[in-house]
Amino acid sequence: MSESAKLTLRDQTYELPVFQGTEAEVAIDIMALRTKSGAITFDDGYGNTGACKSAVTFLDGEKGILRYRGYPIEQVADGASFLETAYLLINGELPKKEQLATFEKELAARAGIPEEIHHLFQALPADTHPMAALASAVVALSGFDKKSDDPKEFARLYLDLLAKLPTIAAAWYRRSKGLPAVKPDNRLGYTANFLKMMFGGEPDQKIAKALDVLFILHADHEQNCSTSTVRIVGSSRANLYASISAGVTALWGPLHGGANQEVLEMLEEIQKAGGDVQSALVKAKDKNSGFRLMGFGHRVYKNFDPRAKIIKKHADNVLGQLGIKDPLLSIAKELEQAALSDEYFVSRKLYPNVDFYSGIIYRAMGFPTEMFTVLFAIGRLPGWMAQWKEMREQDARIGRPRQIYTGATERNLPPIESR
Ligand code: SDX
Repeated sequence: MSESAKLTLRDQTYELPVFQGTEAEVAIDIMALRTKSGAITFDDGYGNTGACKSAVTFLDGEKGILRYRGYPIEQVADGASFLETAYLLINGELPKKEQLATFEKELAARAGIPEEIHHLFQALPADTHPMAALASAVVALSGFDKKSDDPKEFARLYLDLLAKLPTIAAAWYRRSKGLPAVKPDNRLGYTANFLKMMFGGEPDQKIAKALDVLFILHADHEQNCSTSTVRIVGSSRANLYASISAGVTALWGPLHGGANQEVLEMLEEIQKAGGDVQSALVKAKDKNSGFRLMGFGHRVYKNFDPRAKIIKKHADNVLGQLGIKDPLLSIAKELEQAALSDEYFVSRKLYPNVDFYSGIIYRAMGFPTEMFTVLFAIGRLPGWMAQWKEMREQDARIGRPRQIYTGATERNLPPIESR
């Protein structure tokens, strides 16, 4: 017997279908609400609104659970590579040995980018933010790929973009520093190859492994701001490059992926001010300060972000392996301790999120702060593409929310003489 919810509005009662997912999450289907009642729902920031059904990633914010295609993030980070994770998210199952070998070969063969992308980069000011360069180059790729609208080409498209994004990111970094581009080296693994294209020379395999884990931890996160952007742009049947480029620009925002850069800048500020974390907390609690504790809080996690827990341990290991003592790590830990025992943060269930410690590791690896969100984008690309692929396979309707109009009611247009 199917379940339903009853809504009473102005003495009328409406019955709405109810359904649940495989993790027993319950949804009220309001697709017929406006036709039945003339009313719409209102949900600023979509905090309570399900925009789609998805089988890619499950997260439970209360319990701090994150699973990629059913596999707990802790196990994926520990037991798989980033390319195995990308394959899992996009195809739904982990690759067998020979499938992984083919996948790696296919990506290595596609890592090159058109020479014109380098020319595009030369046309941009060297101090352009890397996320602007990344978004421009990704959508520009559609100019070199005339079949990007053909669904029969999608499998090839995912490979092309996954292979090319690190090359584009490194090409911009080299251009911004006035350095010659380093060509992809298909003898190296995906992440090691990216490090070589970034910094030249033979990459440190320990750093490559540590960065691979960070890419895994960023690979997908259900319907976050940038993923929802990728899905809604794709729902107009815009091609993959256009949709991913939109995801890059959404991720750039300081409240989203841009937070990892903001956290580092915040920690540097605290260090410059003598390392006093309490004054940062006072500012963060003052609504008029315009200052937030970057890397803290989350729309969904009202418990620890499981990724933050892994990254915090990872920071100790990586900095230990590299023999780096970064005072910012101690400031970050002190700030976390202080916030987690402060009523303002405790009462609002504000915990460190994925961005709180990641920047400290990126810095130890030699990445400049402005590249941090680009690293987030490289990690998130498989998730964006998995969600875009699912949206197209669902033949999703074009995304088009409604609104409640609060502007001027009808009035007549006065001639300019009498305005
Ligand atoms: C990511 O959605 C995802 O899954 C994103 C992500 C992913 O993998 O894709 O996890 C990646 O984007 C992580 C978040 C990175 N952003 C930051 O670290 C920026 C700092 N955090 C906040 O701006 C905020 O916590 C958000 C944006 C993350 C969440 O914002 P919400 O859900 O809209 O929460 P809110 O702004 O309504 O805050 C609720 C209360 C408010 O106080 P009151 O009005 O109740 O008094 O908590 C306060 C906020 O002022 N608050 C903070 C705070 N975060 C929330 N106060 C100080 N510092 C903060 N960081």
